Order: sequence, then C-alpha cells, then structure tokens
Amino acid sequence: MTLENKNHIGIVISNEKVANETYKLEFLSGDIKNINPGQFVSILCPNLTLRRPFSVANFNCQKKEITVYYRKKGQGTEYLTTLKKDDEIIFSGPFGNGFNIENDKNSLLVGAGIGVAPLFFLKKKIEKSIFIAGFKSEDEVFNKYDYIKIGGSIVDDVERIIWENNIQKVYSCGPKIVLEKVYEICKKLKISNEIAFEKVMACGIGVCKGCTINIKDGKIIRNVTVCKDGPVFKGESIIW
Ligand SMILES: Cc1cc2nc3c(=O)[nH]c(=O)nc-3n(C[C@H](O)[C@H](O)[C@H](O)COP(=O)(O)OP(=O)(O)OC[C@H]3O[C@@H](n4cnc5c(N)ncnc54)[C@H](O)[C@@H]3O)c2cc1C
Ligand code: FES
Repeated sequence: MTLENKNHIGIVISNEKVANETYKLEFLSGDIKNINPGQFVSILCPNLTLRRPFSVANFNCQKKEITVYYRKKGQGTEYLTTLKKDDEIIFSGPFGNGFNIENDKNSLLVGAGIGVAPLFFLKKKIEKSIFIAGFKSEDEVFNKYDYIKIGGSIVDDVERIIWENNIQKVYSCGPKIVLEKVYEICKKLKISNEIAFEKVMACGIGVCKGCTINIKDGKIIRNVTVCKDGPVFKGESIIW
C-alpha cells in the first residue's frame, strides 16, 4: 500500500458554515508531506461505503493542516456537518495530478460555485494571477476574489478580463457548462488553459474505472480516469 492509498487519521481543527449550505473544514493532516493545488482527498463517512472526494483548498505544510470547503448535498456531506473540533476524521490521498503551475505567465483563475475551492490553494502558489468567481446568489458567496459575479454567468466576463490584463494562462473549476465555455474562449484567443474536471467517483485511486472519460492526445483518443490521470486536464484534450 502506498502512502497515498493508506488511511490517514486527521483531527478536526474547525468546521464552520461560511455560506448557504457551504462549510469550511480544517483538520490536521497526519503524515502527509506534500499536496499540489488541484489534488483532492477522499474522506470516509462512517455511514457510507464509498469515500467522498474533496479538493484541497489549502495545505499548510508546517502546521500539517488541510482545508476543504464542502457544499451539503447528500448523506456524506451531511455527516461532515456534524464534525466538531477534536473529532477524528479518516481520509486518504492526496490523489490526482494537480495543476501544472506556470509562474512566468499572467494567469486568470475562474471558479464557479463550490468549484472555487481548489483555486484558493492555486492562488497561493501562483505569482501573477487574478481570481474571479461566479455564484448563483449573494448568500452562496464565501471568501475574497478580485472580481465576483452574482446571478449571471462569470463566463460573460472572462474574455474582457483576459484582454484587459494580458492573460496568458487560464485555470478553471466549476460546473461542466462553465468549464466548456471558458475553454472555448481560450481556444478562440489561443490561450493555454487547464480545467479541474469532476466526475462521480467510487474507488478514487484509478482501480474501478468508474470515472473514465475519453481524451484527445493529438490525433489519438485515450481512455483515462479522472481520479488518477486527472482531475486536471488541458481544455483541448477534453471531448466536450
Ligand atoms: C475531484 C473532485 C473534487 C471535488 N471537490 C469538491 C469540493 O471541494 N467541495 C465540494 O463540496 N464537493 C466537491 N466534490 C463533489 C463531492 O465529492 C460530492 O458533492 C460529494 O461526494 C457528495 O457526497 P454526498 O454523500 O453528500 O452526496 P451523494 O448522496 O453522494 O450525492 C448527492 C448529489 O451529489 C451528486 N454527486 C455525488 N458525487 C459527486 C461528484 N463527485 N461530483 C459531482 N456531483 C456529485 C450526486 O449525483 C447527487 O446528485 C468533488 C468531486 C470530485 C470528483
Ligand atoms: S473512481 Fe475508480 S477509477 Fe476513478
């Protein structure tokens, strides 16, 4: 068993509601040495067989602390809301490839809804970046951004912001419809882009093949798993 596949026991530091149905969970990360932005951890919810994946929104290597933001959906995230300071949390990871950070480029980070979560961590590691986010309503907003769109689509602002700020690379995470539109803008403007893709997962470690998608690798179509080969892909490699 590799270190990544093994169970880690974390201790909850805090678990607080930060917006409508949205929570920030911080816990001690045990023996994990490194996490890259875009990677995720899988949290065991005692009432469920399958672990639930959550993007790492921050990893403090010195303090050994992991932060995730989660939106309450079903039984797993409902369980997470019950966690209190000093409770144990069993998780595995970090999993996935993470973003390929290019610090020499002016970057734009585009998040929508809970999809902003991995971008907080990315923002910390990237030197020249603008972080923009879209939320359905005011009560869903949490944390700070360089620009926020509430109601309409954040996608409508992406092209203007790219032009105004001489953006050379775009990183995005959120619902598929947002990712696809961001990709189309980047394709039109010939800008490098990476997207963090989500797929409902079972094993989370590349074994069950439940999260398989087809991607383009030049002219070749390849079958890859989102959990192990992703979740971050170049926009142009996705078969939308
Ligand atoms: C790589 C990755 C990173 C993620 N990061 C975050 C994060 O940072 N914060 C966050 O709140 N959520 C994140 N998710 C989604 C999160 O894993 C699901 O919301 C969670 O598993 C739902 O569990 P549940 O038991 O509460 O709900 P369930 O009862 O399992 O499902 C409730 C609803 O959520 C949908 N759902 C279940 N799993 C997923 C999934 N993987 N993606 C999208 N919808 C799903 C189901 O179709 C159903 O409609 C991520 C998913 C992936 C694959
Ligand atoms: S969830 Fe099993 S291979 Fe990805």
